[in-house]
Parts: sequence; structure tokens; C-alpha cells
Amino acid sequence: MTEALERWDSEPARSGAARHGVVTAKVLVVDDDPRNIYAVEAMLQESGIEVISAMSGEEALRCVLLDDFAVILLDVRMPGLDGYEVAALIRGRERSSRVPIIFLTAYDKEQVHVFRGYSAGAVDYVFKPIEPLILKSKIDVLVELYRKTEEIRRQGEEERRLLLENLRVRGEKLQAEQALRRRDEHQSLVLSALPIALYTASVAEDHHCLRFTNDSIVQVSGFGPSDFTSSPNFWESRIAAEDRERVLADLRRAQETGSATLDYRWKGADGADIYVLDQIVLMRDEDGTPREWFGLWLDTTERKNLEQQLLHASKLESIGRLTGGIAHDFNNMLAVVMGSLELLHRGLDGDEKARRRAHMAMEGARRCAELTNRLLAFSRRQSLQASATDLRDLVPATVDLVRRTLGERIEVAQRIPDEVWPVNIDRSQFETALVNLAINARDAMPEGGRLTVAIANRSDPAGDMVEVTVSDTGQGMTPDVLERVFEPFFTTKDSGKGTGLGLSMIYGFVRQSGGDVTIESEVGIGTSVRIMLPRGSAQPKAPDENAAREAPSGRGEIVLVVEDDPDVRQVAASTLAALGYGVREAADGPSALALLREAAHIDVVFSDVSMPGPLTGADLAREIRRSHPSVRVLLTSGYVGEDVEITQGIEILPKPYRANELAGKLSALLGNAG
Ligand SMILES: Nc1ncnc2c1ncn2[C@@H]1O[C@H](COP(=O)(O)OP(=O)(O)OP(=O)(O)O)[C@@H](O)[C@H]1O
Ligand SMILES: [Mg+2]
Repeated sequence: MTEALERWDSEPARSGAARHGVVTAKVLVVDDDPRNIYAVEAMLQESGIEVISAMSGEEALRCVLLDDFAVILLDVRMPGLDGYEVAALIRGRERSSRVPIIFLTAYDKEQVHVFRGYSAGAVDYVFKPIEPLILKSKIDVLVELYRKTEEIRRQGEEERRLLLENLRVRGEKLQAEQALRRRDEHQSLVLSALPIALYTASVAEDHHCLRFTNDSIVQVSGFGPSDFTSSPNFWESRIAAEDRERVLADLRRAQETGSATLDYRWKGADGADIYVLDQIVLMRDEDGTPREWFGLWLDTTERKNLEQQLLHASKLESIGRLTGGIAHDFNNMLAVVMGSLELLHRGLDGDEKARRRAHMAMEGARRCAELTNRLLAFSRRQSLQASATDLRDLVPATVDLVRRTLGERIEVAQRIPDEVWPVNIDRSQFETALVNLAINARDAMPEGGRLTVAIANRSDPAGDMVEVTVSDTGQGMTPDVLERVFEPFFTTKDSGKGTGLGLSMIYGFVRQSGGDVTIESEVGIGTSVRIMLPRGSAQPKAPDENAAREAPSGRGEIVLVVEDDPDVRQVAASTLAALGYGVREAADGPSALALLREAAHIDVVFSDVSMPGPLTGADLAREIRRSHPSVRVLLTSGYVGEDVEITQGIEILPKPYRANELAGKLSALLGNAG
């Protein structure tokens, strides 16, 4: 085997070294005899090979730790660690386990030692004295092998590096693409969510055929992009008639100036006008010929509506301040007028004619005072007696009061849920508001119809509100009327029929109570008035008021209501019936006396003080006291102090009275407890 190796190794292998000048191969020579080291160094002096020497096993190990070697020439016999031990250590270390080791030995040519050397990791033996050619050939083969391996390793490394680089670049590209895509998606999302639509229009077609490039137009107008190209007139034909001329003129001017902002109303697919802000820019060819319009539609409907609401609210606000001031002064003057009239009235004893005149003047002043109070209500300057109120009781009770006034042709529906939050309001003002709304609804439904009163709890970011809606199926209002209904004295009713203060009063009362009123109305369909009241704190019940309201005070006693105004009479009759009394009605003094004479039994006469005809309330009271002493009398009067001297000893209930006040007076008169 050794011979064979020698023969094989003797083949010259020089050519390889020259080809691989680039990779330096390091050769480690380990020998305790420096002469051997010199000999090897001299033999391997050529470019591309670097000889590193070590004089002992320990030094050799240090070198192996620091460097990678193509070949290690290892002397077998050394003091300290011998060659076999060093070889075993080199093989035991992962990094150097594959470095070829050639043992240099002068002795031990026996097979036993050779085997020991191979099992310690030798690839070959060279015997001393060293035959340069043999050693050189062996080393050249191993160096060549090392270089090839090294080259392959480097190529592999390079390829891996290129692969990684490639991956990195591809990854970056992918990320960039994703970022781009995300931005695109984001942009188109923003574009489609905004009330903005983009279009182009050719100059040749006179800007009449709008080609929308995003789908927002569907959201804005209800029409798709293709609708706009379906007919050349489509866009222009839907511009509001009042705006059309102006828009077309602006457009003609824009041919010269190159851009314009068109502001117009445009009829959307649902027939309603959209407020459009149409911004256009003219694009030109290189030679300056106008080619195409770029346009942008912005839907400003919401903003315009808000503007108008604001305008409307501030208008009402200033009218409110004005009327409030006037009403206040007016009230003071009325107090003077009424006080003086009263004194005058007293001094006119005996002159019946003059007394009547004074009385009529008084009546006129009283009406003025009523109007003034409604004005004060509108201007939110009335004094409110707010209390925690359960609308589940108050609304049905009030609806019952007006039911008869509405007549048979109007059907009344109530939608009242089991749970309704309490509200903090002035009960009698609320009653008046509801009655006013019902009367408005009745007037809007001369042919009959349906009146619906609904209550609902509503929560929104602004807070918890209770919503009361009064809707009718009447003639509805035109937008022009709807815009003005809250203004004081605005009425469409014949003079003498309506004062135009009903809704003004409601507006003021609700706003003063911290709520809001809105109206929706459509001609021929009906009207819906929505009152929003802030949720109040839970109900500490005002004890006597509720007791009087909830427990009827009457025990079936018969009350005769005397009142000339049929509406007022009906309200009084309904109130009494609700309180548990039997009710009879008379329109004036003489018919009341007639009824008293005929009727089997009447317990109380409840009469207005001022009545047309030969008998006033006071006259009637005196007559009853004379002819029917067992019948009690309760008078009611528009203002306190009226006819005091002639009704002495007779109970008076000031108007406007609340149901519980009426109940209290009647109970006291009839001697009922509570
Ligand atoms: N439910 C309704 N349906 C149709 N139009 C209504 C309705 N309610 C109010 N209106 C319109 O609003 C106007 C103003 O109403 P408002 O209640 O303020 O005054 P009025 O009813 O005319 O007079 P009054 O002072 O006697 O109430 C009415 O004249 C009417 O044109
Ligand atoms: Mg009214």
C-alpha cells in the first residue's frame, strides 16, 4: 500500500497550483526539529502556499485554533504531546476534523504504527529523510483538493448570498407593491365615501355629457354614470329652473377663464333637489385648443340645509326677543287698563248701559292679556311651573279632553308604550300645547281623517329624550308655509279664525323646557309635529296634585256647565266627567234656569262669569240662590277680581284653571272630604 501510494504520489501535480493563484492555501508544519521545518519551507516556496510552522504539539493546536489549513504535516515523535495525540485532538474538533494530516516519521515503518497513525486521523505517511518530490506531490494533491473544496464552498456561499439578496429585493418589492395597493385602496375608499364625484366632459359636446369616473355619483344623485351619458340633455334638464340660466352663463364664461365654480340645485333620482358645488377646470391641447373639462361634484345639501336651519333659528330668536320685549311692556300697560276698568266698573252702579260697555272693554283687555301671554310663551319668558311628569297619564287625559272637540269624522289613535321616561315640564302648558296641535290637525282635516299621538323614548349622543309626535292625515303644508309656521301671527286661516300664535307658543314652551320641536309635512299627505323633551329625573310625585288627578273627586253628583263658547264648554264637560261627575250643559243663563226648573236633580251649577245675553254669570248665581237655595254655584272668571262685589259669598275659580283645582273647589262646595 505504501509503495502504491508512493508511486501514485510521484505523479507531478504542479499544474493545479498555478491555476488557483487566488485561493491561498495554508500548510502547517509541526516538528520539534527546525531543520525539518526549513526543509519543508524551502520545498513549498511558491505563490499560493503559505507555510506556518509549529515546534510542538501545543503550539500546533494553537495554530489550528487560529487558522484553517489545507494540510497539516505532523511529526510523530515530539516531546510533550506526540503526533498521534495532536492528530486525535485536531480530529476531535468539528472545524478541523476534515483537514488532511500527513505524518512525518523516521521510524515506525512497521504496519502497527502505520495503523495507529491512520486510526488517529492520518491520511498519509512521509518518511524521513524527506524525499522532496514525494512530499511535494502529496501536498500538491491535497492543496488542490483544498482549493477545489474552498472554491466550491465560496461559490456556494456566493450563490446563497445572491439568493438571499434576491429574496430580500423581491420581499422589498412585494412590500412596496402592497403599500401602493393599500394606498390605492385607501384612496378609492376615501373617494367613494366622500360625497364627491369626478367627471370629464368634452368641449366638443359643450360640457353637456358628463362622464363620471367613480361610483360616488350613485351615492350623491341616485343615478349611475351611464345615466349621464344616456341623453345629451340629461345634466342640463335636471338643473333647478331658477338656477339654469345662471349656470349656463357661468359655463360660457369659463370657456375663456379656464375654470369655474358652479353652484346649483340639481334634481336627484328621488326627485329631491341636491345642492351641488360643481368645480370645473378646462384642459387644453399642446397648441392651446380647449379639449376637455375636468369636473368635481361636491354634495353640499347637508351644509345648505344646516345653513338654512341656522338662519331660521336665528330669525325666530330675534323675533322672540322683539316680541318678548313688546309683550312684557304690553302686559304692564294691560294691568293699568284692566285695573282702571275695574274701578270704573264699580263706580258705574246704576248705569247699566255704561256698566255693559265697561264690561266689554274689560273683556277685550282680557283677550289682549291672553294673546300677550302666548307671545310671552313664544319668547320663552313665561314663568313655567315644571314638575316631574309621567306622559303616560297626561297625554291620554289631554287627548280625552279634546276628543269631543275634534268631531266624529276624526279618528284618534294613541301609541303609548309601557315604559316612558319622566319629563320635567309645566303640565298645564303641555296640555295647552297638545290641545293646540289637535285643533290645528282638526282644521287641516275638514273632511275627517286620523289623528295619531305617539310617545317614545329616544337615546342619541345628545342624551335621553322623550318624543311626543302628533300626526294627522290632513292637507299638509307647502314648504313656504312650513318655513314660517313658528313665526308669531303667521296664519293661513281666515282673519278672526286663527291668531297664528299656536305653534309659536308651542315652540317657545318646548324650547324653554330644554327640548325641541320639528315639523314634517307634505301637501295632501299630512303633517307630523315632533316634540322632543329631555328626560327628567325619576318621579317624586307632587302628592295632592296627583291624588286629585288620579282619584276622581266626584261621586256621580250632577254638575250643570253654563258656558257660551262650545269648545270651552266641551272641555269643561269632559274634565268634569273625567273627575267622576255627571254633566249637564247649557249655553246661557236663561237655558240654565230652564233646566234647573225641569231637571229632577242638579247639585252644582258651574258657570262662566261673562256671558252674552240678558244674564251674566253673577246674575245667574243670584237668581239660583233665590230660587234654588239647595243648589251650589261655582263661577269661573278670566281674571281675578271680576264682579267681586256682586258675587260676594259665591266661589270663584280663576281661569285658566287646572282640573285638580276644579276638583278641589267642587269637593269643598259639596262637603266631600279630600
Ligand atoms: N296640522 C297642520 N296641518 C296643516 N297646516 C298646519 C297644521 N298646523 C299648523 N298649520 C299651518 O300653520 C299655521 C300656523 O299654525 P298656528 O297654530 O301657529 O296658528 P293658527 O292655527 O293659524 O292659529 P291659532 O293661533 O289659533 O293656533 C296655520 O295657519 C296652518 O297654515
Ligand atoms: Mg293653531
